[in-house]
Amino acid sequence: MKRYLLFTPGPVNVAKNVRMAVCKDDICHREIDFDYLLQSIETKLLKLFNIKNTANYRAVVITGSGTAANESILSSVVGDKNILVLSNGEFGERLFNISKVHNKNTSLMQFGWGNRLNLERIEDHLKKHKVDIVAMVHHETSTGMLNPLERDGLLSKANDAMFIVDCVSSAGAEVIDMEKCHISYCSSSSSKAIGSYPGVSFVVGKTEEFESLKTLPIKSIYLNLYNFYHSIKTISQTPNTPAVPLFYALEQTLINILNEGISNRHAALRSKANILRSGMLDLGLNFLIDQKDMCSVLTTVNVPPYIDVTVLRQRLREKSIIIYEGKGQFKDRVFQVGSIGELTYADIQFFLDSLREILLNENSHAENSHHPVLPNSAKKEYYKFSTGALLTTSAGGRKVNSVDQAV
Ligand SMILES: Cc1ncc(COP(=O)(O)O)c(C=O)c1O
Repeated sequence: MKRYLLFTPGPVNVAKNVRMAVCKDDICHREIDFDYLLQSIETKLLKLFNIKNTANYRAVVITGSGTAANESILSSVVGDKNILVLSNGEFGERLFNISKVHNKNTSLMQFGWGNRLNLERIEDHLKKHKVDIVAMVHHETSTGMLNPLERDGLLSKANDAMFIVDCVSSAGAEVIDMEKCHISYCSSSSSKAIGSYPGVSFVVGKTEEFESLKTLPIKSIYLNLYNFYHSIKTISQTPNTPAVPLFYALEQTLINILNEGISNRHAALRSKANILRSGMLDLGLNFLIDQKDMCSVLTTVNVPPYIDVTVLRQRLREKSIIIYEGKGQFKDRVFQVGSIGELTYADIQFFLDSLREILLNENSHAENSHHPVLPNSAKKEYYKFSTGALLTTSAGGRKVNSVDQAV
């Protein structure tokens, strides 16, 4: 079978030891082996979110994708209170849509896809309306915008509102400090920057908030967050049958992240994203949002007028490279290139060379080819020094077969 290079925001190419972890010996999830596994994952998740007062926080793991974690929070913590969802893209809107199903007092503050969350507008709204809970997405994957957590967390706290954050595509790539950002609950999943397979997600939250769920109305059986908390607290178990091999894979990827160090991992991903971005700018491409607003996870690129995004994706697929197309209002207008998972610098070079070849070819066939892809047709190589500095040179020596290097 073909081995793909997944230049997507998830799924990702997983590390070899994560791949091996799903093949561990069979266990019964109602035996002590699973208790230990769950405890081990929980301890590591608290570290992932930089939690120092570990007695004040708990983490639960859910068999289900990132949406399961989001729905678990939104169906369990609101009761009949007022929740305000801040949105600047597809995934903010999804939070709103999930909340609406479970909570009649849900309101939405829209900022427009690709726009920054406006602090003054939020502050003004919080002053004028009774808002008990503020929910938002950290990394809005549909545009690539990284929304500010510390600022919005402080604002929520100042207005006595609980702060809930969807970290589905940022955890594992960005440094997130739950305590400093006053986050009561955050969600994430295994298959994005965390670096494992799809199928498990998790919620990290304050112990006192988990405790307070006991008295709230039950709006979901499978995703009842209190049940998850109660099970892990009392018997170190999940309420229903867990996807055990995926739990092993999650444990392994968390070990990998913590061994590397969260800041180091962030710096490494940032460096890869910067190389990709420089390379794509050299190809005459431009981006949907300002680079300083971008996460280290992906880059959202405007589709140049001389190529159709379906053609571009197909040409890349023929070279075993997978990218994303735009969602919703950005469909056909942008494509997205992820830089997470086990992609090497050689893979990035291979991607840029392949993209260059495809764009030059398509541009030369375009009816009105007055959109030069490159200022000149010179191929470039992108070398990374250990300091993270980037040097570009004209091509010459190194040959890269990226597929051979894929894990
Ligand atoms: C920010 C964000 N939230 C939620 C989701 C939904 O996650 P899943 O598709 O794993 O259910 C995604 C998926 O891409 C996402 O990027």
